[in-house]
Formats: sequence, C-alpha cells, structure tokens
Amino acid sequence: MRVVLLGTAAGGGFPQWNCACALCAAARAGELPSRTQECAAVTGNGRDWWLLNASPDLRTQLIATPALWPGPGPRATPLRGVLLTDAEADHVAGLTELRGAVGLKVYAPPTVRAVLAPVRAALDRYTTWEWADSLGDGGFVLAGGLVVTAHPVGVKIPKYVPAQVPGPAAPWVTAYRIEDLASGGVLVYAPCVGAWSPALDELCAEADCVLLDGTFYADDELGTAVRSGAWQGATGHLPVTGPDGTLAAIARHLGVRRIYTHLNNTNPLLDPASPARARVAEEGVEVLPDGAELVL
Ligand code: MLT
Ligand code: MN
Ligand code: ZN
Repeated sequence: MRVVLLGTAAGGGFPQWNCACALCAAARAGELPSRTQECAAVTGNGRDWWLLNASPDLRTQLIATPALWPGPGPRATPLRGVLLTDAEADHVAGLTELRGAVGLKVYAPPTVRAVLAPVRAALDRYTTWEWADSLGDGGFVLAGGLVVTAHPVGVKIPKYVPAQVPGPAAPWVTAYRIEDLASGGVLVYAPCVGAWSPALDELCAEADCVLLDGTFYADDELGTAVRSGAWQGATGHLPVTGPDGTLAAIARHLGVRRIYTHLNNTNPLLDPASPARARVAEEGVEVLPDGAELVL
C-alpha cells in the first residue's frame, strides 16, 4: 500500500489567510514549510487510488502529485473515489472540485451522508457517483485490494449544521482501518479524534502506521476561553499533550509508525526547531511535510 499525505494542516491551512501570528508570518516568509489542508491518497496496486477526505486544496494537491495525474485517455483518472471521516468543511469542500469525474464512489458515515444531501443533489446535476455507508457491517473492499472498516471516534457536529438537524444519530467522526490484502500492511487514518477509546487503542496496537489528529499541541492553545472541561464540545480534537492527550496514548504503541497530521496554525509542532517537536520526536512520533509518501 502506498499512502501520500496530500495535505497536513487543519482547516484554514498554514499559513491561514487571515492570521498574522508568528507561525503564520514565518510560513509566509518561507522560514517554515507551508501546509495545505488535511487530505491523503491511498492505493493497494498503484493504479486505483482513493482519497481520504477531500480538502478545499484538492486541485492543487492533485496537480502536485504525479501518481494522481490523468491519462492515458483524455479523461482517464486513477481516482476511484473518496473516503470521508467526517463532514467538516475542510474535509468535504473538495468534493465539488471532483464534479468533472464520473463513476466515483464516496464512502461516509450515515450522519455525514445525510448532512451532505444538498451537496449530493448539486453534484448529481454534474455527474453520477455512488454514495455508500462507511459504517456498514463487515466493512468494504476497494479496487486495488484494500479492505476497510470505519470506527467511531467522535461526536462533534460541524458548525454549519443547524442545531436541530433531524436524521441519523452520532457518530459524526470516524477513523478508517485500511489493510492491504497483498502486503498485509495496515494503516489507521484518524485525522479527527474527539475521544480516545479502548477500540481505538486496539486499532493502533494492530496497525503498521497511524495517521493521527495533531490539531492542537496543548488544550489551552486557542486561549483561556477554551479549557479542558469544554474541550471536546468546543473543538472536538484531543490535544497532543496533557493527561488526556494523544501523545500519552500512542506512547503505548512503540512498534507502530505514528505520524501527526491536521496541524492547526497555532500548533508549535509546525516549527521543526520547536521544543514541542523535540518532545514528540523523543517519543518516536513523526511530523511529515505535505507530499510525504509512506509504503506499508
Ligand atoms: C475541525 O477540524 O474541527 C474543523 O475543521 C474546524 C473548522 O470548522 O474549520
Ligand atoms: Mn478540520
Ligand atoms: Zn497563525
């Protein structure tokens, strides 16, 4: 299995267009690597590729990745579809960029499919796609020899959803376990994690690589208004550090390749020279640039 990290920043990207913080200024000055919004691509056979989420930066990301270029026919594409973990704007806005492609298959949890109904109706006027339930019993198999299961990891509802939206109950946020039948390699893709669970721990224990939510380094990163108690409701992302942080959780899985992604523009991990980066590296956990490729 090959995995390309198309983008590694949280919503807004890095630098964020309307942020003048020191980190964003350093990225604008070329002193820190810029990052596009979180999105990845995966293949089992090198010919059939699947997107993991669809970021608003998708067009730029596809153009920067030769494996995803079209051809040999004038409209042929190696892209077969998209696996959505959640319905956040930074994970679904790129779907509309794909409206020129016919026959894509989009997997998503029932909550996400329901809330995207207007987007689906709009896309139906451009093209013919198949929408499938990612949480269906037994998981699903993707062209290219990948076996996938989805797992609930959060209940955060996107801000754009009206408070009393009728429809399926939680989960709103999921992670994917993706196994390559040929190599036996297992990827756990969890760019949004609102709650750590024994089930997620088990998934990590049996993975070769975990791509994990690294949105915030500390739970007060957005300012004192957002404190631990209100943390999950406020942001839906576990912080890296602290007693309930993800670093302590994944420190238990030493043999697994662990990579933080979906970094917010406030996160000191964006600076390779920061003490935060040194701390995470000490635990054997990686932060990789956009475009990085993994083989499992
Ligand atoms: C998130 O990951 O929590 C969202 O992308 C935040 C947002 O609305 O940008
Ligand atoms: Mn996000
Ligand atoms: Zn900033």
